[in-house]
Amino acid sequence: MKKVKHLLELPRALTTHLIPWKADLNGEGSFDEAIKGCDGVFHVATPMDFESKDPELVFTSSAAAVRFGEHEKPVYDENCWTDVEFCRNKKMTGWLKTPSMLGTIIYYILFAKENNLDFITIIPPLVVGSFLRPSMPPSLITAFSPITVIIEHVVQFTWNEAHYSILKQTQFVHLDDLRNAHIFPYEHPKAEGRYICSGCDATIHDVAKLLREKFPEYNVPKKFKDVDENLEIISFSSKKIKELGFGFKYNLEDMYVGAVETCQGKGLLPPTSSSRKTC
Ligand SMILES: NC(=O)c1ccc[n+]([C@@H]2O[C@H](COP(=O)([O-])OP(=O)(O)OC[C@H]3O[C@@H](n4cnc5c(N)ncnc54)[C@H](OP(=O)(O)O)[C@@H]3O)[C@@H](O)[C@H]2O)c1
Repeated sequence: MKKVKHLLELPRALTTHLIPWKADLNGEGSFDEAIKGCDGVFHVATPMDFESKDPELVFTSSAAAVRFGEHEKPVYDENCWTDVEFCRNKKMTGWLKTPSMLGTIIYYILFAKENNLDFITIIPPLVVGSFLRPSMPPSLITAFSPITVIIEHVVQFTWNEAHYSILKQTQFVHLDDLRNAHIFPYEHPKAEGRYICSGCDATIHDVAKLLREKFPEYNVPKKFKDVDENLEIISFSSKKIKELGFGFKYNLEDMYVGAVETCQGKGLLPPTSSSRKTC
């Protein structure tokens, strides 16, 4: 109940709009009952094994399946695949996710081909924005890594240097844009294959500048350990999904202000003078 209470409280959830199921990706057949008779499935849970026989499948992949390799590119698109050996050797923060993510995608592609399923993959970069769940989303641990909050000499929330390497030159998408980007190709008759879904690109310095301007009390520094002061943008191209007709609504400021204010509202970050004024 702790995990799903916020979903059950959504309008009309319990009457018509939501049927909760308990299932585990590790248990073969665990989802069979839940997806029986469905025309389509949005598979957003962290991927493991997954058994299904007939529906269309829209699967949430990750930028981690696209971006990492020996030679960094200025722009990445759907033809790019991460080099697992490079990740194994380099062991950067979060690398452990990459082999399982790639393995799962390849398994799904082959499974879909063998079983004549329409299979679409959505590739999000870092997801930032307002959210419903009661706890801090894992992506915000990276997104908020430059923040330190000290109240009356007590550290309430502190910067996380291990995540600077991810935030250094990254790409972002708002949770609502990402949700729409799952539904859009599912409903589009010509949609197929992989779709990068990136709303904007920025460096850690752009993020820090934005946070300093919007939330001066969060002690966001101007310099970061082991991070160059002059960084180039690395871009994820959303050309393919845009050419299908999809439009992004949110910019970096919307994402960060929405995420910070949601955290403040849920007591996950201390309030600032700007949020106190809004209240
Ligand atoms: N957030 C990002 O920035 C980001 C970026 C790129 C890609 N993605 C991808 O987006 C997907 C969702 O990520 P998220 O950020 O929403 O992560 P999340 O908040 O941790 O959500 C993962 C969900 O997967 C469920 N899950 C985990 N193991 C499961 C299992 N064995 N059986 C059934 N359900 C299981 C979890 O359920 P419980 O809570 O019950 O454990 C949870 O609801 C992931 O595939 C992730 O790789 C996320």
